[in-house]
Amino acid sequence: MIKGLVFDLDGVITDTAEYHYLAWKSLAEKIGIEIDREFNEQLKGISRMESLDLILKHGNKEADFTEAEKEELATQKNEEYKEYIKEITPADLLPGIDKLLKEAKEKGLGMTLASASKNGPAIMNSLEIMDLFDGIVDPATLKAGKPDPEIFVRGAEMLGLRPDECVGFEDAEAGIEGINGAGMFSVGVGSEDAMQKADYAVTSTEELNLDTILAKASQ
Ligand code: BG6
Ligand code: MG
Repeated sequence: MIKGLVFDLDGVITDTAEYHYLAWKSLAEKIGIEIDREFNEQLKGISRMESLDLILKHGNKEADFTEAEKEELATQKNEEYKEYIKEITPADLLPGIDKLLKEAKEKGLGMTLASASKNGPAIMNSLEIMDLFDGIVDPATLKAGKPDPEIFVRGAEMLGLRPDECVGFEDAEAGIEGINGAGMFSVGVGSEDAMQKADYAVTSTEELNLDTILAKASQ
């Protein structure tokens, strides 16, 4: 029986995945690297420094920067990203998410956040949904990020549940892999191509229906 939901944040609860993309694109341009949306799929769910490494590799510049310079580049990206997220309000919840979270709460399901983002707690506060959640897994305490299942296993643990008693929500290929690896039912939001490995997938959060998801996860 499903007793808990474990959520990714960026691109599932709110549209910050787009802001991550814009901020990385602008940083990459500054150092002469071109990235597009197709390449960006690989960055979804991946930590800040790992994302930078993938971008440098993509531009054949992985040997061009010292660790300190890389830290500085990652900070610059985050500063631009923080400008985008400054104005977030509850109106920025993606369509259908408010309803989904409230229905889940009414049904007594536990909910935790499993996001790779260090900006997660601030965004959750701006969206005013923290009181619906039972906890946030701190990405700084993980041994391995997505696609490793650890963050999702920890999200279930926080609820006192086994992964197979939870449903995980993701928009990233790496995230779906992590949910599946944890032995959790995976719900994907995104293109058919990117969400191939999800147990159940929709193209927009608008299509997320709690009863449908619970029925599918219990099959
Ligand atoms: C994930 C995003 O949620 O968080 C990634 O999908 C992002 O794109 C990662 O790189 C880390 O985020 P932050 O806010 O700590 O730089
Ligand atoms: Mg995401």
